[in-house]
Amino acid sequence: MFSLNFYYRINYLLKKKSSMNVILNFIFDRLKHPFLSHLKKNHKKTHNNFLKTKNTSTDYFSINAYYWNNLINKNFKEFSYLEIGSWEGNSALYILKNFKTKKVVCVDVWEDKNYEEIQLRNFNNFKNNMREFDGKYTFFKGTSDNFFLNNKESFDIIYIDGSHEEAQVYKDIKNSWNALNVNGIIICDDYFYGNLYGKSENVPAISINKFLYEFKHELKIICVNNHQIFLKKVLD
Ligand SMILES: C[S@@+](CC[C@H](N)C(=O)[O-])C[C@H]1O[C@@H](n2cnc3c(N)ncnc32)[C@H](O)[C@@H]1O
Repeated sequence: MFSLNFYYRINYLLKKKSSMNVILNFIFDRLKHPFLSHLKKNHKKTHNNFLKTKNTSTDYFSINAYYWNNLINKNFKEFSYLEIGSWEGNSALYILKNFKTKKVVCVDVWEDKNYEEIQLRNFNNFKNNMREFDGKYTFFKGTSDNFFLNNKESFDIIYIDGSHEEAQVYKDIKNSWNALNVNGIIICDDYFYGNLYGKSENVPAISINKFLYEFKHELKIICVNNHQIFLKKVLD
């Protein structure tokens, strides 16, 4: 009934000591998948077509379009949005193109000593791609730590897709939680990051699971799919 990939992912969750709640949410998502796969394809295609009008080297986002559309429409009419990790603007473009927003803030270092040219290209692509939404978003060029150091604003949706190092992801979730409104949603990317089949320790799942355990009374897990986990803040 399930693919081999499903069992690898279950094994990954067990190895990372994910809670039963996470595992059940994941299984529930997989059980629904055959009935929704055509919708997922349509949402992905629509965003893909929009991206063809932009300059992007990599499409990290369109596989998420169905889930974001579904969860955002269920929870918000209008919302404020923060993202950690913007790359060429793909995820922020999806938000600005498809929803009514009060505020959109994009945070990225857009700098890496080992990939100077790539990061320069990303920053230029980001600014050009986002041009049609000028005035509807702001950006912070720097680390997420530096952003949160001076941030006084709060948000309804925060997307964490910056560093994938365990320690940094943990800091990003904690800082994001403090900046999240009650009933707000945090979306963490790459919950199944690293080598699915072998050893992968320094990965987001470790920090996310630690956070889930520590903040279990303040949150509700609303979705776990093949790539992301969605958490709702139910108590301050
Ligand atoms: C996977 S990409 C983001 C993809 C993007 N959300 C999209 O939809 O295309 C990760 C980004 O996080 C940025 N990044 C990594 N560590 C960071 C940090 N500590 N603070 C802010 N941004 C960071 C990188 O520069 C990179 O552009």
